[in-house]
Amino acid sequence: MNNRAKLATLILAFIISSCVLAIGEPANSVPASPVADGNAVFAAKCAVCHGKDGRGLPNWRAKGQPDFTDAKWQKSRTDAQLIAVTKEGKGKFMPSFKAKLSDDEITAVVARIRGFAKK
Ligand code: HEC
Repeated sequence: MNNRAKLATLILAFIISSCVLAIGEPANSVPASPVADGNAVFAAKCAVCHGKDGRGLPNWRAKGQPDFTDAKWQKSRTDAQLIAVTKEGKGKFMPSFKAKLSDDEITAVVARIRGFAKK
């Protein structure tokens, strides 16, 4: 194979793999099941204050932060309320995430928060 043929083969391989990736994508973005990874969002944006285990770090607990593993607390809030708090923030310390996370990511991270109660 001369250099040109090698280059052509490379380009062809690149085009084919891009097509395969592009075809793979729409299948993932069915709106009914959020594509966003709630675990990843929680670890990246929430765990600093809410803790990896959802119980909350002591200094934040002292500021009124709930323990996400508490079944009573879980029952006291609807999904819509948790989504609203995540979007708008609450009090002085819980930040608003509507500019930082998509609706999908917020839905996914709220599902993750619900998961803390089921242990
Ligand atoms: C800077 C620290 C901090 C970060 C980061 C943070 N939170 Fe909070 N969060 C708090 C505090 C403090 C409260 C308690 C607020 C209050 O009740 O006044 C709280 C409360 C909450 C509540 C409970 C609200 C209620 O009605 O009881 C939810 C749900 C919540 N946070 C979700 C999230 C999610 C989801 C993320 C990540 C996308 C996140 N938080 C990131 C500090 C934080």
